[in-house]
Amino acid sequence: MKVGVLKENKNGEKRVAIIPQTVATLSKKGYHFFIEAGAGANSFFSDTDYEKAGATICDLSTIYQSNIIVKVNAPTLDEINQISKNTLLISLFQTIRDIELVKALKERECSAFSLNLLPRTTLAQKMDILSSQANIAGYKAVIIGADHLGKYMPLLMTAAGTISPAKTLIIGAGVAGLQAIATAKRLGAQVEAFDVRPEVKEQVESLGAKFVEVESSSDDGVGTGGYAKETSDEYKAKQQEIMKERISVSDLVITTALIPNRPAPKLITTEMVEMMKPGSIIMDLASENGGNCELTSPGEIVNHKQIFIDGNTNLPSTMPTHASQLFSKNIEAIIDHCHGENGFHLNKEDEIVSGMLFLDNGEITHQPTKEAL
Ligand code: NAI
Repeated sequence: MKVGVLKENKNGEKRVAIIPQTVATLSKKGYHFFIEAGAGANSFFSDTDYEKAGATICDLSTIYQSNIIVKVNAPTLDEINQISKNTLLISLFQTIRDIELVKALKERECSAFSLNLLPRTTLAQKMDILSSQANIAGYKAVIIGADHLGKYMPLLMTAAGTISPAKTLIIGAGVAGLQAIATAKRLGAQVEAFDVRPEVKEQVESLGAKFVEVESSSDDGVGTGGYAKETSDEYKAKQQEIMKERISVSDLVITTALIPNRPAPKLITTEMVEMMKPGSIIMDLASENGGNCELTSPGEIVNHKQIFIDGNTNLPSTMPTHASQLFSKNIEAIIDHCHGENGFHLNKEDEIVSGMLFLDNGEITHQPTKEAL
């Protein structure tokens, strides 16, 4: 079984989908890896490291002959046009948003796994790239946010006076949010967090942060599969009131709120930003999906009246060695899951395989993608 690994070509992307350790592990099971020269360089894995692990560094035409092609980011139209019929592509892929790419893949009559569609089940945890990368995003958001701040994070009692701890508000306590809480606590900040799913209160409190509650008689934001859903207008109004109050006193706001297959909810208005103290920071982790703040500009740091809104869309790439290591380990678990007595096989009855497989030899198999098409 031939596995091709392409160098990422998205602007600013430093990760690589497969690291040498995965090559060594899967080579023992009969997989042969074909790697584009320099694919791991930005994550500090050299071509020699891959070769030592048993991979072949080769030209693009050989990589495109592979049975499986692995990438971090969705392929470009140019890359898709080189993928052979019946190849299985594995990458992060927002199938409903990137509908032109889905159409192009369909025309190539290949198959594709979207890593975004992996079911959030216990069995699938070791394959969960959204979680492994969101963890890094939550951690780095605090580190970068603290770096932007003109303040200390912890409480300090010095001969020159007492420094009060930075007030940090985390909006959205999913995987990224919980890691952001833990990191901000470790740096000594005063942390509070909010989420539309009340069940996360216990998790927030177990990390030593305060949970901000919105009391509403109407439906909260509990959706299916552990995800959020859109809240009612009454709930939104109450949430806005509380957010206004909490945001205005925060030095650092980290916002991670997402709703599957919908644009990110706009939770921080311009009015709220203008209530913050000069020098305050908003790290908007939802920027790739439009952002949680009205003033977010994806990929940029906006200075609005001395409040800084960081819309970095790819925080995992700022920590490429560990991001690639975890990504690669997740892919290894996916390939291993599909590996049976007779080698690699796509069992379409399997919940994990059928969950991720949105294109099967040119046929769209994911209903929401079919509808979007
Ligand atoms: P996500 O990235 O889709 O959303 C981030 C957070 O934003 C969520 O906690 C969500 O409730 C919150 N949110 C959405 N709208 C909001 C709003 N208007 N205001 C405030 N917060 C809002 O979610 P993520 O981090 O990918 O995971 C969500 C949950 O999925 C986890 O907490 C967990 O329960 C479950 N999960 C299960 C896994 C498994 O069993 N394998 C693996 C990972 C997550």
